[in-house]
Amino acid sequence: MKILLSALAVITLFSGQIAVAQDVDAGKKVFKKCKACHKVGENAKNGVGPDLNDIVGRVVGSAEGYKYSKTFKAANAAGLVWDEASIADYIANPNDYMKAALDDPKAKTKMSFKMKKEQQRKDVAAYVASFSAAPAAD
Ligand code: HEC
Repeated sequence: MKILLSALAVITLFSGQIAVAQDVDAGKKVFKKCKACHKVGENAKNGVGPDLNDIVGRVVGSAEGYKYSKTFKAANAAGLVWDEASIADYIANPNDYMKAALDDPKAKTKMSFKMKKEQQRKDVAAYVASFSAAPAAD
């Protein structure tokens, strides 16, 4: 019981920190920029980009029925897994992210979109992660 309580205390502490670092409501507004290509929530389907439900803890490039780039297929084969922090990094520059992650200077994704502002990236990653069953990693 004592262990359980201290574990709860730690979780509470962490959720407090997350609330300060990134804002799911702000992220919902930022997600408008992703909506042309991505859907989340009930009945979300693949569009220009894959559906992003349950993305946290999901292996890169594994949305059912979506036709990924070669680079994403390589990331899938390498077993890369998304968490909230990696999504925030990735959207800053998808090609650079995959070049580094796969150690392949020729890596090129189909996602032709970049988001510069760090706060916006963190917020939108938190928003997207809120549609995942896995606990959002910080
Ligand atoms: C112009 C269309 C477009 C926009 C806008 C866009 N994306 Fe993407 N996204 C894609 C495509 C296409 C892929 C698949 C990449 C590939 O196969 O190379 C992708 C892949 C992803 C993935 C990996 C999914 C998986 O199944 O592994 C994440 C995460 C992601 N996008 C998040 C975002 C977020 C968050 C935003 C908004 C900040 C965003 N994207 C904006 C087109 C877009």
